[in-house]
Amino acid sequence: MRNILVTGGAGFIGSHLVRLLVNTYPDYHIVNMDVLTYAGNLENLKDIEAKDNYTFVKCDICDVKKVIEVFQEYTIDSVIHLAAESHVDRSIEDPFSFAQTNVMGTLSLLQAAKEYWGGNFTNKLFYHVSTDEVYGSLGEDGFFTEETTYDPHSPYSASKASSDHFVRAFADTYGLPTVISNCSNNYGSYQFPEKLIPLFINNIVHNKSLPVYGKGENVRDWLFVNDHARAIDVIFHKGKLGDTYNIGGFNEWKNIDLIKVMIKTVDRLLGREEGASDKLITYVTDRAGHDLRYAIDSTKLKNELGWEPSLQFEEGIEKTVTWYLKNNEWMEKVTSGKYQEYYKKMYNK
Ligand code: NAD
Ligand code: DAU
Repeated sequence: MRNILVTGGAGFIGSHLVRLLVNTYPDYHIVNMDVLTYAGNLENLKDIEAKDNYTFVKCDICDVKKVIEVFQEYTIDSVIHLAAESHVDRSIEDPFSFAQTNVMGTLSLLQAAKEYWGGNFTNKLFYHVSTDEVYGSLGEDGFFTEETTYDPHSPYSASKASSDHFVRAFADTYGLPTVISNCSNNYGSYQFPEKLIPLFINNIVHNKSLPVYGKGENVRDWLFVNDHARAIDVIFHKGKLGDTYNIGGFNEWKNIDLIKVMIKTVDRLLGREEGASDKLITYVTDRAGHDLRYAIDSTKLKNELGWEPSLQFEEGIEKTVTWYLKNNEWMEKVTSGKYQEYYKKMYNK
């Protein structure tokens, strides 16, 4: 029996993780703490919301007092912390909210765990979910390993790097049992359409232009979100205390090549002529401070804990496009209202 606090469980990765934990471990109680920002959506969890071993608590992770009350109410023994502001472009517009949620929010959770557990750390765990962006940008070659020096470039990655440092500081200073994982770009169902893959799928469907930053030559290492959730499960149960694990799919794509695969897949599944949507590609001003390339070496996770990605990218992208086409109601809901203002501000359209 464990009482696990998952933060950010109504978001993209969090909802996949909550579903996996609730369905796999009927003896665990999963408490999902989320303040429901624009990115949090309880519709993502409709299929498990009535389960006995699941509870949702609306709470801001920055509110230490309320967080401690939640620890007390549910006798929390483990935390898996995902709540964050997660979109690089938004961090360029508004760095303060990233420092607030990602740095101060993480600090407040760490403090709550330390206070509630009161120095008795037996069978306790604080698991912090982080990103490969803390390592900065690679050139043409090489990979990020767990030993790569931190070198964040965006306000988002700087805030995540800072949160990682606070987690390690709590381990070193107070003996808090912690583990950190740093993952590459995720894709799959329920991702908010501000991120490349769902945004472009939605635009292709609606014959809207596809704003490719710069020359489209930046490289990302894509991992199917369910594989990330599986990796978190493995690290949560078998990870070494105080350790860090990189998670990635050895699956690098230049943006423009990936965009062409998306166009081809959407057009085919919609019964359009091949190449019909190629004309939507529009090169726009590059993202400020745009990291050229991310590539994760996840050998440690494979060798030490036996985790490997389960899905080939071709299969993953087919599943993902199919999901967004079938769930157009979900997409319509999340792109109504405020999303239109966001789109206008970011893309001037
Ligand atoms: P997301 O933006 O889809 O979801 C974030 C969730 O956090 C939302 O449900 C939101 O409501 C919640 N949240 C935000 N501020 C909060 C606050 N103050 N209190 C409580 N809840 C709050 O993000 P995601 O893409 O699912 O990412 C989840 C985590 O994984 C983040 O920590 C991110 O840095 C990390 N990560 C993401 C990726 C990726 O490709 N998306 C890759 C590696 C790591
Ligand atoms: O690497 C892990 C990170 O991946 C996570 O920590 C972040 O939370 C997540 O948002 C993601 O960051 P990226 O900036 O890599 O993802 P995004 O989907 O925003 O962009 C992917 C690439 O596509 C990037 O090179 C920028 C480019 N892009 C993105 C958008 C939204 C475009 O060319 N046009 C766009 O409109």
